[in-house]
Amino acid sequence: MNILILGSGGREHSLAWAVMQNPKCDRLIVAPGNAGIAAIADCADLDINDGGAVVTFAEENAIDFVIIGPEAPLAAGVADRLRAAGILVFGPNQAAARLEASKAFTKEICDAVGAPTAAYRHFTDATSARAYVEEQGAPIVIKADGLAAGKGVIIAETLQEAFDAIDEMFSGAFGSAGAEVVVEEFMTGEEASFFVLCDGETVLPIGTAQDHKRVGEGDTGPNTGGMGAYSPAPVMTEAVTQAALEEIVKPTVAEMARRGTPYQGVLFVGLMIENEAPRLVEYNVRFGDPECQVLMMRLGAQALDLMQAAAEGRLAQARVNWAEDHALTVVMASEGYPGIYQKGSVIRGLDALPETSREMVFHAGTALENGQIKAVGGRVLAVTARADDLAHAQARAYEMAEAIDWPEGFFRRDIGWRALS
Ligand code: AMP
Ligand code: GLY
Repeated sequence: MNILILGSGGREHSLAWAVMQNPKCDRLIVAPGNAGIAAIADCADLDINDGGAVVTFAEENAIDFVIIGPEAPLAAGVADRLRAAGILVFGPNQAAARLEASKAFTKEICDAVGAPTAAYRHFTDATSARAYVEEQGAPIVIKADGLAAGKGVIIAETLQEAFDAIDEMFSGAFGSAGAEVVVEEFMTGEEASFFVLCDGETVLPIGTAQDHKRVGEGDTGPNTGGMGAYSPAPVMTEAVTQAALEEIVKPTVAEMARRGTPYQGVLFVGLMIENEAPRLVEYNVRFGDPECQVLMMRLGAQALDLMQAAAEGRLAQARVNWAEDHALTVVMASEGYPGIYQKGSVIRGLDALPETSREMVFHAGTALENGQIKAVGGRVLAVTARADDLAHAQARAYEMAEAIDWPEGFFRRDIGWRALS
């Protein structure tokens, strides 16, 4: 099988790593890829948000299966174009990708199926949004409706913060993503991420994870794309998992099919859990980054078979082989991230680290220049380890992170603390 993966982050490196372990994979191309991916697969320069260009590239390279990593090409309809061209693809069509691309749409689906989520109202002007906030009080959550690269959610502790967020969104700070705003109830509890594969009809759980979104230790400081993650999430007990499946995930997938926009791909279900009751925070229509790294490390080669089964509508016959293991990933980021950071510093010591089915340094923002690995992004490496228990996975991941010689980088030293305390 010739396979094309779209994307360039740590998520895509881990997808490529898992796919390459499967003997079914004859050739793997990742577009655009990064320095870590280039060490295990071919990389190609391609505008991955241009559906026409992706179809042409896939045809020219005799690609049998395309795996779409990030949300932007999905929201742009790249999967639609590939399907129309008769190319097997993992990832939802544009209409189904609205589960991530529009927060108001997701809320409407929750209403339609009675899925538990935060109470909300949807606004197209600042005056009515402000009036609603005044009536509800703080804390309250203000969300730009569209894709805002993870920056469109403001947890307002005070009324003034909420008003400021509303004014900022309607003033165009988030572009068209903020032309509509969702105001919702602040939920308390513990967050977890639940990953399921869907083939339009059948839902297959493939793992749970928790990430650390704040940049600072103890989960403090500004939000990031994620500074580390681990799998499984202890809060996702059997009862919570069943409740999430029966009350939230399955009704959503059924409603999408009923509307003629079946959901196919991975559904990343963001949950808030309190008193064993899960409520939906959000959906993403792709794997999380860095959650994907821990999931791929646990699934290995079967990840390809499962994604192919989802793409071919065969999930009802598919089965996940679980090992009773744990994985943890520590993100190494450029000093200054998520604010301003320098690009081009040299990373040393990677060659000395083993690459096995239990330990991998996945690359996110790296490039190879004159034989040196350089940091070219905010989040740069995801140092990942797997073990029989979480404490050992954590110890091994930190041992590896310490061995990397990169003075311009930093990492949190407490990834996994919630699960281990
Ligand atoms: P999102 O961009 O939707 O993932 O939101 C970012 C983060 O904001 C989530 O992971 C939660 O930590 C938090 N969040 C979003 N909505 C709510 C809510 N209604 N109540 C509490 N926290 C929330
Ligand atoms: N780590 C969170 C995300 O990928 O959205």
